[in-house]
Amino acid sequence: MSNQSKNIILGISAGIAAYKMYDLVSELKKLGHNVTAVITKDARHFISELPLKVLSSNPVYCEMFLPELQTRPVHIDLADNADLILVAPATADIIAKMANGICDELITNILLATKAQVYIAPAMNTNMWEHFTTQKNIETLVTKLGYKIIPPEDGDLACGYSGVGHIASNEKILKTILYGEIEAKPLYGKKILVTAGGTREAVDPVRFIGNKSSGKMGIAVADAAHSMGADVVLISTVPCDRSYQVIEVESAQEMQEVIESEFDKLDALIMAAAVSDFRPITTSKQKIKKKNEDITIELTRNPDILEILGRTKREKQVIVGFSAESENIEKNALEKLEKKKIDMIIANDITIPDIGFGSDENAVIILTRDKKKEILQRQSKIQIAKHICNKLVGIFEEMKEAKKI
Ligand SMILES: Cc1cc2nc3c(=O)[nH]c(=O)nc-3n(C[C@H](O)[C@H](O)[C@H](O)COP(=O)(O)O)c2cc1C
Repeated sequence: MSNQSKNIILGISAGIAAYKMYDLVSELKKLGHNVTAVITKDARHFISELPLKVLSSNPVYCEMFLPELQTRPVHIDLADNADLILVAPATADIIAKMANGICDELITNILLATKAQVYIAPAMNTNMWEHFTTQKNIETLVTKLGYKIIPPEDGDLACGYSGVGHIASNEKILKTILYGEIEAKPLYGKKILVTAGGTREAVDPVRFIGNKSSGKMGIAVADAAHSMGADVVLISTVPCDRSYQVIEVESAQEMQEVIESEFDKLDALIMAAAVSDFRPITTSKQKIKKKNEDITIELTRNPDILEILGRTKREKQVIVGFSAESENIEKNALEKLEKKKIDMIIANDITIPDIGFGSDENAVIILTRDKKKEILQRQSKIQIAKHICNKLVGIFEEMKEAKKI
């Protein structure tokens, strides 16, 4: 979008962040745009009409039914003349109304009547933002109506909460609506479960059979998916403090239980955890005492989570596995991909020093079901994670083209 003077309608709803709109109106005016503020009835508790009128040099609208006689309804006039409409702050309430075509406010009437691009900058309490209905409504606005969302940010909220819900900065709002700088959120609307870390199979209350996985790769994948807009659940064996949902587990069986309980709701499962193939047949309730003779720990096989889910997954679900190999990397990984009926496998050579387990870097081969291969040379796990998530976006796009989703 060029930066020529625009007719901008600024819809302001009843949230604490409404006061920030005084500055936004001033900035837009300074940049040469014509701003008309339309406020909801409840927004009058949060913002005053007079300063908005002075700052915008335009009337401020709120009521549908103006006392003076109109030849054309005000909502149609405003809708037709708008080059773009921004709703900021957008309350949970106004978002719900927009998603359902409810027209009990002037701004919602304008939104239904306009052909202009609509942007919304939501702001609300974290629980309100994360609520199923709000997320469903946002999905409708993005996918069905083509609205562009300027996502709320993580921060300290006026309601005392700390979390996602803080309105995006005015700078970000301006960049988005004037220069089209929208952060890419290609995984928006996708629910993705990522596993990370090595499982611990208890021998007794203090000892376990474990492995060298640090969880860094899985956590990097979860972070990348989250930053690309996915609704992420991370199942991790290592403690991890994130703004998205993290479930800590220890053993392979615990991990399996959580994955299976979530699996039906998932669009993708990314198994980056190093899940132990075996566990002790019995776990001693008491610490095993030191004796003078050797002891034998009998092991039994853990179920292969990937194989079980690969067999039962729905056509529109994507499963990504990781494969740590010490020899015949590509051949072994390809065999796993086929046998487990998964969509993508990320193989790495654990014999290369300084990368892989515990390191911040990795080098991998990515293999997909369509027999494509990609080699990623040594680079940070964060970069590799972004690459994997981009490949996932590609798989979803192919599915969409094939009308699977
Ligand atoms: C002090 C206070 C602050 C509020 N802040 C928000 C907010 O930031 N976001 C939100 O969605 N609702 C917030 N609400 C609730 C809305 O004001 C309420 O749902 C209102 O009816 C929305 O009206 P509107 O969407 O028509 O503007 C707040 C309420 C109060 C009392």
